[in-house]
Amino acid sequence: MRRYSTITQAEIDANDAHRSTAFNDYYFSITDPIGERQTIFIEGNQLPDRFRLLETNQTIRIGETGFGTGLTFLIACDQFLKYAPQTARLQWISTERYPMGQAGITKALDSLPLTADLRQLADDLCDNWPQLIPTCHRRLFKDGRITLDLHFGDSTEVLSDLSGIVDAWCLDGFSPDRNPESWTPTLFQAIAEHSHSGTTLSTFSAARVVRDGLSAAGFSVSKLPGFGGKRERLVAQYKGLTKQLVWAPKQHVGDMARIAIVGGGLAGAWAAHAFATRGIPVTVFEKESPASGASGNLQGITYAKLSIEATPNSLLQLQALAHLTTWFQILPDNVWQHTGVLLLAQSPKEQAHQDKLLEALPKTAPLLVSVSRSEASDLCGQKLRFGGMHIPAGGWLNPKQCVNTLLDHPLIEVKLYHQIQSVESTDHGSILQITTLHEGLVSHLFDLVLWANAREASQFIQLPLPLKPVRGQVTTLKQTTNIKMPICGDAYVAPASNGAMTCGATYRPNSDDLTADPQDDLTNLDAINRLMDRPLWSTNDILDHRVSIRTATPDYAPVIGQVAARNAWIESLERLRHDASFIPEDDLPFIRGQYVLAGLGSRGTLTAPIAAEILVSQVLGEVLPVAEHVRHALAPDRFLRRDLIRNLS
Ligand SMILES: Cc1cc2nc3c(=O)[nH]c(=O)nc-3n(C[C@H](O)[C@H](O)[C@H](O)COP(=O)(O)OP(=O)(O)OC[C@H]3O[C@@H](n4cnc5c(N)ncnc54)[C@H](O)[C@@H]3O)c2cc1C
Ligand SMILES: C[S@@+](CC[C@H](N)C(=O)[O-])C[C@H]1O[C@@H](n2cnc3c(N)ncnc32)[C@H](O)[C@@H]1O
Repeated sequence: MRRYSTITQAEIDANDAHRSTAFNDYYFSITDPIGERQTIFIEGNQLPDRFRLLETNQTIRIGETGFGTGLTFLIACDQFLKYAPQTARLQWISTERYPMGQAGITKALDSLPLTADLRQLADDLCDNWPQLIPTCHRRLFKDGRITLDLHFGDSTEVLSDLSGIVDAWCLDGFSPDRNPESWTPTLFQAIAEHSHSGTTLSTFSAARVVRDGLSAAGFSVSKLPGFGGKRERLVAQYKGLTKQLVWAPKQHVGDMARIAIVGGGLAGAWAAHAFATRGIPVTVFEKESPASGASGNLQGITYAKLSIEATPNSLLQLQALAHLTTWFQILPDNVWQHTGVLLLAQSPKEQAHQDKLLEALPKTAPLLVSVSRSEASDLCGQKLRFGGMHIPAGGWLNPKQCVNTLLDHPLIEVKLYHQIQSVESTDHGSILQITTLHEGLVSHLFDLVLWANAREASQFIQLPLPLKPVRGQVTTLKQTTNIKMPICGDAYVAPASNGAMTCGATYRPNSDDLTADPQDDLTNLDAINRLMDRPLWSTNDILDHRVSIRTATPDYAPVIGQVAARNAWIESLERLRHDASFIPEDDLPFIRGQYVLAGLGSRGTLTAPIAAEILVSQVLGEVLPVAEHVRHALAPDRFLRRDLIRNLS
């Protein structure tokens, strides 16, 4: 059983914000921290020259072990902004097993002599400092030109399962004698496996264990004079073979000028936003009006249903929960209400499950908090029948307005009442046949197409995509009373907004019937009244209802990524029929410029933003913000692989 990773908060000297008491070491040279970082890491990897030479839409991916105060990252950002062309991007991927808290990093950076530019970058970093949750925390800076992927976790664990390739490494654990776990052969091997022949590396340490370890992993290592009186430091270049990530799609190498996103729901809108935030224009095609499908409800509850085992789906939800404040900060108050959420345990069995879950989850930040019945009642302002868990990061979202807010961007063109009928893949891109309201059938060529049209995505993709419709009806109730935060159990109810409260939702698998059913309103009403100490709502309070269709997958995880070339995969993966662990030797082919983001099921308000980030990183050839095993588990080809293993396809 895969467990959740753990991290420990840094222990810092109360009298010296740059000294770790746990490691009895300094984060950097105390006499000249900036000069030291500049010489060892920036010049050691020839970054100024490499920044200058970046091309349009090219991302330079820099990996670091030991984020610490983030000073090296800040200096790299400053130099990148000085030297790189406007259209290039920097991705900084760093690990930190012992992160500082927000107060600690703010104090550490405040007490450094930074230039005005560095100070501004440092303030941005501190203002957006993550909670101490072991996951990859993604932050975008400077109009999306800089991406920080800060993995709170152990370097070896994170880098062994990294999804992507790095161009330059900065090895910056504490010194090897005090922090041996940051300089092991296993870590050097993981670094080598995520390098290519042009990848460089630099480090302050010239210890034998580092030199020999890097050489053994395939780096050609050179010694240079050390900084500030130290004898030597190391620079290196990877000379080994690039490990093939056989299953993994490679960067989209094509023009990025014409990107089509099919579907104007949460999936399409977050993806469009993720491209536009990076300065990349997109066109969204929606067969009706935005948010006319599942994303059209006026209230949805944003919370996670985590598993005791750290499954890919649970890791994704945990990561999404950790990001909500960051992603939703662009949404106005009438769209996102960060109230917290109550998840009640309605039976002893559920209570036992919640207890086990709380035991299994990382403890450094309160993602879920156990609450008694009276604590839960105090939190929501009404007497409840059950206790359960409080999810402080959760809240409720107006999905419809969220979609409209996201699509309202100068780089996003929205084509309403444009229904995609078919797609033809050619060497020059994908030709979409589109039915329009005014011009009839038209066709347009795109460099890249993203299928974000929920269950209808399967009509356009050759892969087996078992996207199942699950009909749901929400009921709108008159505000006769109120609650301070959403309550979830067998059903959910949200706090009042404009005099109305949403409750729901029914769950009817394999039905796409959009006709409202009055019996469903009664089911919803009954289910939420059962959460309360005494029934609070009656049929007289019913104002309205809305039916829409969720798109679910058999494993309840979304489908994210490039579309695999079905026939070639079946041919190369024949052996899966007899050996489920078979891994092919060569890279597997994908359909150029075709991606999918669908199957968000019942958690779309939570998972759509991280799903969009995974997708856009894949297109841009960036390292993904999730581990490779998570990417693999969410990939559109997983059902084909599953069918082959079961000898079905
Ligand atoms: C009743 C109900 C209650 C829910 N409650 C919650 C909740 O409380 N919390 C939560 O997190 N999630 C909830 N969900 C789930 C959430 O709403 C979905 O996960 C999310 O909205 C899915 O977004 P999507 O963009 O993938 O799909 P959709 O919103 O369905 O968007 C797909 C879009 O594609 C368009 N389209 C389809 N085919 C074409 C084509 N050929 N050409 C052009 N456009 C096309 C459709 O018109 C549609 O607008 C609920 C869902 C339902 C149904
Ligand atoms: C020399 S400091 C890094 C300084 C940092 N790069 C900066 O610019 O401030 C070393 C860092 O490695 C971290 N570290 C130590 N062991 C680690 C491990 N196993 N995995 C990830 N980080 C680790 C420490 O917590 C510390 O932040």
